[in-house]
Amino acid sequence: MISKDVKLAATFLKNDGVVGIPTETVYGLAGNAYSDIAINKIFEVKKRPNSNPLILHVKNGNELDKIGTQIPELAYKLAEAFWPGPLTLIVKKQPHISNLITASQDTVAVRVPNHTLTLELLNSIYFPLVAPSANPFTRISPIEAPHVEAYFKDQINMVLDGGRCSEGVESTIVGFENNRAIVYRLGAISIEEIEKITNNVSVYKPLDKKIITPGMLKKHYSPNTDIILTRNVSQEIEWFSDKKIGLLLFNAPQPNFNLAYQKILSPDSNLKIATSNLYKALHELDAMNLDLIIAERFPEYGLGLTINDRLTRATKK
Ligand code: TXA
Ligand code: MG
Repeated sequence: MISKDVKLAATFLKNDGVVGIPTETVYGLAGNAYSDIAINKIFEVKKRPNSNPLILHVKNGNELDKIGTQIPELAYKLAEAFWPGPLTLIVKKQPHISNLITASQDTVAVRVPNHTLTLELLNSIYFPLVAPSANPFTRISPIEAPHVEAYFKDQINMVLDGGRCSEGVESTIVGFENNRAIVYRLGAISIEEIEKITNNVSVYKPLDKKIITPGMLKKHYSPNTDIILTRNVSQEIEWFSDKKIGLLLFNAPQPNFNLAYQKILSPDSNLKIATSNLYKALHELDAMNLDLIIAERFPEYGLGLTINDRLTRATKK
């Protein structure tokens, strides 16, 4: 059921239910962070391995001290700069945060989402919400309420309809080591923006065997349709000329190719707009019964890095 009724959503959540919630990044599959029943339901519905920890969503920055401990000064600085907003911080957890949420790690992920309805919801309940993105494990994240409904139908209590997500891609995840910021997942806030707050930023490179975040999994954010990522779209079109192809492009259409099968993410070459259109375009291309999606590689800076990250993962089988 899709509804705009915040009170109804709160009632379901108070009773161990699972509710699709809008955020500025993507829709989340939310439950009471203090209800093991709700947390287990989320893992079950999403078919997510229990080894993958969840993000806590809280109503404001003051909650950080109630959840984390030994919080570095830099974490407060980043929270101050970006909350409410698409930044997730990884901090040492307090003992009362369930091991189900953190996959038994001693750290917890937390953010303040920037969406009016969800902030209203968080202010009307007395607990934080755990919410992974509201897609089945490895599938494309939902950015509109009907996407969530299509994925989970009667398996969840309701979807709180907050319209289309403005950022359209997941939050940037930042952890800390010796008061240095480490980006664990590229996301809606670019590295350059974080560097305005601290110039001590590095991007985490997962060691092959020790994957601590599923956002780091090679196969993730995938359409059902095969997808390739390339700098030379026209060459790939020629190469796969026997196939039914759809194109995902940055700013300009491919000449001599049916426009109905082309998604242009930003005609004005604006990376923020391109990012906000990425998953919508992937959902649409995936519904076209294509043999193949050919995606153009984006510029290697700013949110172009986030887009390339998601497209690269989408190509993995
Ligand atoms: O934008 C977002 O972050 C969305 C919306 C709904 O808030 N949520 C989201 O959640 O993308 P999810 O579960 O799909 O991705 C959360 C990521 C995972 O890659 C998870 O492994 C990582 O956060 N994570 C959670 N706790 C962690 C921890 N303690 N250490 C490292 N990574 C952690
Ligand atoms: Mg996810």
